[in-house]
Order: sequence, then C-alpha cells, then structure tokens
Amino acid sequence: MDYFTFLVALLHVHKALGEEIFWNTRVKLAETLTLECQYPLGTLVQMEWFKINATEKESIAIFHPTFGSEIREPYVDRVYFLKSTSGPNDMMLAFHNASEADVGFYSCLLEIFPYGSWEKVIQVVPSDSFEIAVPLNSHVVSEPGENITFMYELQMKGPMQQVTWEKVQSHQIDLLISCNLSQGKSSPSRFRRQILSNCSQGMRRSFILMPLVVASDSGLYRCCFKASTGENETFVVRLTVTDGKTDNQYVLWMVVGAVLSLLFVILIAAVIVILYNRKRRRQKSFQGKESQATQNKASNNYRSSFSISQPSDGAGEDIYVNYPTFSRRPKTRA
Ligand SMILES: *[C@@H]1O[C@H](CO)[C@@H](O)[C@H](O)[C@H]1NC(C)=O
Ligand SMILES: *[C@@H]1O[C@H](CO)[C@@H](O)[C@H](O)[C@H]1NC(C)=O
Ligand SMILES: *[C@@H]1O[C@H](CO)[C@@H](O)[C@H](O)[C@H]1NC(C)=O
Ligand SMILES: *[C@@H]1O[C@H](CO)[C@@H](O)[C@H](O)[C@H]1NC(C)=O
Ligand SMILES: *[C@@H]1O[C@H](CO)[C@@H](O)[C@H](O)[C@H]1NC(C)=O
Ligand SMILES: *[C@@H]1O[C@H](CO)[C@@H](O)[C@H](O)[C@H]1NC(C)=O
Repeated sequence: MDYFTFLVALLHVHKALGEEIFWNTRVKLAETLTLECQYPLGTLVQMEWFKINATEKESIAIFHPTFGSEIREPYVDRVYFLKSTSGPNDMMLAFHNASEADVGFYSCLLEIFPYGSWEKVIQVVPSDSFEIAVPLNSHVVSEPGENITFMYELQMKGPMQQVTWEKVQSHQIDLLISCNLSQGKSSPSRFRRQILSNCSQGMRRSFILMPLVVASDSGLYRCCFKASTGENETFVVRLTVTDGKTDNQYVLWMVVGAVLSLLFVILIAAVIVILYNRKRRRQKSFQGKESQATQNKASNNYRSSFSISQPSDGAGEDIYVNYPTFSRRPKTRA
C-alpha cells in the first residue's frame, strides 16, 4: 500500500515538471558520498538504485543477496556497493569521486520479505547551499529509555498548508513527518526509527513521540508550519540523550566533590580549633584573618570541582546546520 502511495506521489512528480520533488532525506555533496537506505524490518530480497528527475527514472545499480550486484553501464566507474554497518544485507551506494554532476535525486527501491516494496528518495544538494544558522528555541536533556514527546503549537493566525518535522544534522536532514493540513494525511515516513505523530485537517498543534530514546537520537529537531503563501513558523529543539558513561562520570564527580569538600571542612575545623587554641594561649587577633583566607580558598575549591562536572547547556549558541530553505526549488540540471 505504501508502494502505491509512492507511485501516486511519483505520478504527481512526473506530471508537475519543475515542481519540487518530494524527498525523505537530504544529504550534502561530499567527495566520499554514500547513500544509505536503512529499512526498519524484514529481510532484503532485492535492492535497486535509481537517479530520478522530474521526467526520468534511470537505473543505476541492482543488488541481490545471492545473485550479486550489477552496476549499469554509465555508472560503472562512478559508483559501487558498500556494506552498511546497520544490517547484513544492507548496501550503501557509494561514489568514487562525487562531483557536481552527482547532485540530484536518488531513489532506492527495496523488495523486503514479507512486507513488499519500500522506496525512499534521497536528494543530494551542492555543499555550498548548506550551513545556515538555525536559532535554537529549546534544549531537552533525557536519559536513555525515556519516551520523548515534542509538541509545538502554532502561534500565527490564518490557514496553514503543511507541517513537517525534521531531524537536522550537519551533513544530512531527515524528514520525519510531513502532514498535509488540507487533506489531513501524512506521507509515509522513511526514517529508520519509530516516530509517532498526529495529522488531521487544519490542526494547529503538532507532536512527535519517540519511544525509548537512545544516545543516537540526540540532535536538532525542527518543526515547521507552512502556509500556501510561503509564510512559515519554525521551532527548533535540541535533544541530548545522555549515555550511561557520562552519567556515571557525573555521579563520580559529585562523589569526589562531596568527599573533597568534607575533607576540607574537617581540615578547616581542625585549623580553626588549633588557631583558636593558640589565640587563646597568645591572646593575639591577627591569626584569625589567616584562617578566614584559608576558608575562602577552600570554598572556592569546593565550587570549582562542581562546575567541571556540570553539563553545559547549549542555550543561546548559534547552531550551524545544512539547511536549504523550503521555498528554494531544486535547480534542474540538464
Ligand atoms: C576527483 O575529481 C577531481 C575533479 O573532478 C580531480 O581533481 C581529482 O583528482 C579526482 N580524485 C580522484 C581520487 O580521482
Ligand atoms: C514508553 O512507552 C512504552 C510503550 O511504547 C511503555 O511501555 C513504557 O512504559 C514507556 N516508558 C516510559 C519511561 O514512559
Ligand atoms: C495537500 O493536499 C492538497 C489536496 O490534495 C494539495 O492540493 C496540496 O498541494 C497538498 N499540499 C502539500 C504541501 O503537499
Ligand atoms: C490526534 O488529533 C486528533 C484531532 O485533533 C485528536 O482527536 C487525537 O486525540 C489526536 N491523537 C493523539 C494521539 O494525540
Ligand atoms: C520562512 O519565513 C522566513 C521569514 O519569516 C523566510 O525568511 C523563510 O524563507 C521562510 N521559509 C520558507 C520555507 O518559506
Ligand atoms: C532528466 O534526465 C534525463 C536524463 O537522465 C535528461 O535527458 C532530462 O533532460 C532530464 N530532465 C530534466 C527536467 O532535467
């Protein structure tokens, strides 16, 4: 059924020449370019890669776990299959020496047992169209295993056409959710992890739910409501999922800090007692100042051992991401 949806989407693409082609992932052109097509479940039966534009769909290469692989003639010296670390039969399409000529849209068509066809569109964009600062609105820190929900409520008045959620990384943008607000329907998501969301006609509040987050879910998440006029409202949140290690280190620092401060308190107490006894014996006042100074130093030490262990929060920092604006249409190249 997903395949059908995609075919319909593709027909739309073919019909509307020059229209923006729907993409699931956008990656930055790099000399060592690899395209990945991680599928969530099942066993790979066959994988075929295509280069697509508004009018054509050209096969690049095909892979079968037992029959092997074949690279089509015009691409023989340009691409090869590279084993992915994510699964035994998951192949990445790798480029020998990627250049401007490789910019464009790619599609991987997978046959997966027992689920059937699965297709994903990846857009390769020139690297100079990236690196736009995105202002950060919020920062959420979580432990692994939590269920994280991001919710955004539209502030602007007026009807909106679309709401999208994306994960933004320096080299790639993944579309998590795209909801057409006039239809109340979302496009099938091709993100490798499970995301729950809501899509209904004219809704003004959108959420995504990521069950059981892991460290690799850390990153920037962007929600964008867009009107037919191109007007938009965007919200960016950074998610940091701590891994167990840093957590233990943090706890260790706390313990070390607490023990050290206890030692200091005992030391100061001892010093004060000694000084007080001497003072009593000698009846002189100036040594009291010295102990005051020692105490100040000790409390400074106490504070600095804690500030080291404190996780710095990224609020207010400028985040640079590969962010081609929505309104910009992909340049069609001959
Ligand atoms: C890659 O291509 C560029 C120009 O297109 C060329 O200068 C460079 O030598 C090539 N590198 C390799 C490893 O083929
Ligand atoms: C997260 O959601 C799952 C169901 O998807 C539930 O079983 C689990 O208890 C939830 N965990 C937390 C920490 O809320
Ligand atoms: C949403 O669906 C409507 C009706 O099918 C269509 O006209 C419109 O172009 C779609 N909007 C987007 C952003 O895909
Ligand atoms: C999704 O949105 C509909 C309509 O706004 C609402 O009735 C429903 O409860 C929402 N579902 C969730 C899981 O929030
Ligand atoms: C969103 O709005 C800002 C100005 O508010 C504009 O600069 C930007 O191009 C818009 N983005 C899209 C995708 O329309
Ligand atoms: C699409 O690609 C084919 C070759 O693969 C090319 O001949 C055609 O001009 C391209 N169309 C557009 C609109 O770029």
